Amino acid sequence: MASVTLDVLISSEKINERSAALAKQIQEDYAGEPLILLGVLKGSFLFIADLAKRLTGEISIDFVQVSSYGSGKSSSGVVQIRKDLDVNIEGRNVLIVEDIVDTGATLNHLRELLATRKPKSLKVVSLLRKPEAQKVPTPVEYVGFDIPNEFVVGYGLDYDERYRNLPYIAILRES
Ligand code: IMP
Ligand code: MG
Repeated sequence: MASVTLDVLISSEKINERSAALAKQIQEDYAGEPLILLGVLKGSFLFIADLAKRLTGEISIDFVQVSSYGSGKSSSGVVQIRKDLDVNIEGRNVLIVEDIVDTGATLNHLRELLATRKPKSLKVVSLLRKPEAQKVPTPVEYVGFDIPNEFVVGYGLDYDERYRNLPYIAILRES
């Protein structure tokens, strides 16, 4: 059986610090305007909670689920909406909350889809981004950490649905 090693890349303290800084920036940028935090399931569940509890003002929370990956570590390249939003976003400020931007395909597709619904503003915050893996250039207004092109798990991110609960981000290697 293949053995798996996990090497911590970003500690929970660092994630905490960075989430606080991002929330402060977001708070300032929206200056009291109502905001929909739109989490992309499932990977963003811890990050959206971290941001949400630090924001004051009129915040609502919604989720979408998209799938671009099969069960393994590589993308199928096909992006599907598996769960759509519950609310109408026309005329509203929407901030997409992502766990990671890898090739950019998922985010690009989601941005294009949501833009057709005429939100007042549409921005993205992603905890992680892999600049070397980017294939589809798509703007990410707020980035937690740029990381090397390695497969990572923890803090919401999974490998075959495992490791989402880890309080830190780790590089997963199989041997
Ligand atoms: P993209 O469409 O290639 O940008 O892939 C985005 C999605 O793939 C993310 O929202 C994750 O669900 C998944 N993903 C990409 N890289 C990783 C990784 O290193 N670990 C776990 N999931 C990943
Ligand atoms: Mg995701």
